[in-house]
Amino acid sequence: MRFSIALIAAFAAFVQAGVFTKQTYNDISISGGVAGNAEEEALSVFSALDMNNLAAADKADLDFLNSVNQICNKAETEAFNPAIEAASGDAAKALQRGKIKNKVLKLEATIIRLKIQQAQGKNVSAQMAKELKKLNNNIKQDEDEAGQPSTALSFDASTK
Ligand SMILES: *[C@@H]1O[C@H](CO)[C@@H](O)[C@H](O)[C@H]1NC(C)=O
Repeated sequence: MRFSIALIAAFAAFVQAGVFTKQTYNDISISGGVAGNAEEEALSVFSALDMNNLAAADKADLDFLNSVNQICNKAETEAFNPAIEAASGDAAKALQRGKIKNKVLKLEATIIRLKIQQAQGKNVSAQMAKELKKLNNNIKQDEDEAGQPSTALSFDASTK
């Protein structure tokens, strides 16, 4: 009996689709508002995921997280960098804060993906250390600017 329940549970986990739904970059962007809470705002984008049972995450969830990383990266190089280049003064500073918040979102997606892979038995410790260092650096930059205005940029892309 116990064995068949385990089998059913395993099968349910196997057929389970991902918990995330396809969203546009603008839907998931956290760059607007003010600086200082980027980590919390980024985590709320991924709140559909059960952080206490990451081993059960689906391949579709990994694909979603990968795609968040990719579209945030594109928004950084194709939207934020040229806009910052073209701006000056307070406008440039607010865009820079928006860029940092975008990086926190990107790196948070990466860390959650690595945590899932770790929970599923993969050795990702080297990558985890590298990406955590980057994430913590950007969280610190965001916190150093707490309360200062941050500019979001519209970008045409969507997640998986
Ligand atoms: C995981 O990989 C790292 C190198 O990236 C290695 O130093 C470590 O021993 C590995 N851990 C296990 C449990 O295999």
